[in-house]
Amino acid sequence: MMNTTMKFLLALILGGAVTGSCTPAAQRCDACRLIDENVAVATVQLSQLYRASESSDAALLIPSTFRDGEVRFVPVDDWVSGFFAGSLWYMHRLTGEPEWAERARRHTLLLDSVQYLSWHHDVGFMINTSYGNALRYGPEAGDTAVIVTAARSLASRFRPGAGVIQSWNVDRGWQSERGWLCPVIIDNMMNLELLFKAAELSGDEQLREIAVRHADRTLEEHFRADGSCYHVVDYDPLTGEVRRRCTAQGYSDESAWSRGQAWAIYGYTLCYRYTGDERYLEQALKTWRFMADHPRLAADGVPYWDMDDPAIPEACRDASSAAIIASALYELSTYAGDRSIEAAADVLVCSLSSDAYRAQAGENGGFLLMHSVGSIPHGSNIDVPLNYADYYLLEALVRKRNLVNGDPVLL
Ligand code: GLY
Repeated sequence: MMNTTMKFLLALILGGAVTGSCTPAAQRCDACRLIDENVAVATVQLSQLYRASESSDAALLIPSTFRDGEVRFVPVDDWVSGFFAGSLWYMHRLTGEPEWAERARRHTLLLDSVQYLSWHHDVGFMINTSYGNALRYGPEAGDTAVIVTAARSLASRFRPGAGVIQSWNVDRGWQSERGWLCPVIIDNMMNLELLFKAAELSGDEQLREIAVRHADRTLEEHFRADGSCYHVVDYDPLTGEVRRRCTAQGYSDESAWSRGQAWAIYGYTLCYRYTGDERYLEQALKTWRFMADHPRLAADGVPYWDMDDPAIPEACRDASSAAIIASALYELSTYAGDRSIEAAADVLVCSLSSDAYRAQAGENGGFLLMHSVGSIPHGSNIDVPLNYADYYLLEALVRKRNLVNGDPVLL
């Protein structure tokens, strides 16, 4: 029997969303059924993970992945620490149930100290996914102050000579072995959302200026003519000179690491949201077209972990990249006024909702999606569930439902 996912995909393939041969009402029904089916599975999975987090070591409460038959937890200073709280907020948004908000608040509060974290740039990801979503879906006194303090911590990493926020410190860990002075990774575009939001909340225009300067310099230095981006650009922080363009998590310096492309699409879409600068919109579209038209993109649209891995088609897929791109495309479609972009996001959500990527309820350690890649060069989290893949799929479902209901996409 054909399940909802297959029917939805068929509707798309037959041209429902693309050619208009299905009635809008029928398309809405198919989309709603697909969302409902995902929410039903996510309810089982995230409840299981929440219970696991309650019984874990007090210092390690945040589920990040499921590897070798065990749920793995991370401390609050890990870059992925906000995604679980964020997923719980999205479950509240998708179900309307107060219990999810209570769970989300508990996990958000775990990140309280992160507002003072200034030794890496990911404070943006961590606070925006947790406190940022708390402010949207269950605000309490003090949330705004945490967001503004965290934004100032992030802004402390701005290097005026280069006009960028330094992503990683270079005095410890594997980053100290690369000879970098001021490495900036494309992922950093995602952290700008915290600066823009905090500028709006506090009226501190300097936070917004830093975000714009970083976005502008990244636009100049990180992209190739075909629209793809480098993972790392290393700057001289005093003179601003580019010292090197390379990779840390991709196949090679010149390759297209898929999650990097996903961060670029999402990052420039959010920069357009806050500034209305057409150059940002154009870059988001150009990087999206690079991926969409890529000769090695598989039929289901889920990217290989790196589009230049010579092992393709045997190379790993990365469900996290697909989820990030799907969520970004729902927003991007509203700015570009192009229904085909929304349809492309639908196809990604549909593929991720199939048995090839979405876990059966009760399996996969409680994570929703299988088959993501953390970092192959570092030998970490290869072909496993990752909490940020689940987060961006849930975000994509929220956005799709908003579009179906005729609500603002970011509600
Ligand atoms: N921001 C790190 C990653 O995408 O793996």
